[in-house]
Amino acid sequence: MFITFEGGEGTGKTTLIKDIQRRLSDRFSVVTTREPGGSLITEAIRDIILNPKYLGVTPYTEALLLAASRAQHLDEVILPALKEEKIVLCDRFIDSSLAYQAYARDLGFDFVLAINRYAVENMPNLTFYIDLDPKIGLSRIAHRDKYDRLDQETYNFHDKVREGYLKVASMYPNRIITIDGTKTIQEIENQIVDLILSHL
Ligand code: TMP
Repeated sequence: MFITFEGGEGTGKTTLIKDIQRRLSDRFSVVTTREPGGSLITEAIRDIILNPKYLGVTPYTEALLLAASRAQHLDEVILPALKEEKIVLCDRFIDSSLAYQAYARDLGFDFVLAINRYAVENMPNLTFYIDLDPKIGLSRIAHRDKYDRLDQETYNFHDKVREGYLKVASMYPNRIITIDGTKTIQEIENQIVDLILSHL
């Protein structure tokens, strides 16, 4: 089963995925990974996409690098794990590109879906979108001493990302489950574990 986690900055996905893996791994074989990243090559692409020293990356280049990283990640990590019947918990996937690049960067859904055709052919079975006002999310990460190139975007950009996610969630109602990100991490974790178990 291929499960992805989506949301804006500071929605707690990373902690959530670690805890969910811990809770499922006594009964199932669970792999956790992330995008952009998840392998040597894709972590190198991640650096180009997110390192603030590459401030000149244009929206089209950003979308194409993300799609390239996703294709590599599918071949190297996701598809082999699924073939071995493992549960894959992935921090972000194509819906991030739909919310950030297609919607917030205005590249359009058609373009982003076209360059991500390989991912479209290998869509997640289930996606949890953690919905949270970016004002709250950004305040949660304000203490971090390292901001990546996208964290540094304006509040308006992050607000548009949230709008994008809500649109994407309405495009794929059978796959995407929207979770209220104002709940405690424990409540969210319990809700997601119950939903995963009911889908298995
Ligand atoms: P994160 O792993 O800390 O969430 O950082 C990844 C950043 O990359 C985050 O700002 C969202 C962004 N991103 C996109 O814009 N499009 C994508 O397709 C993916 C996977 C991530």
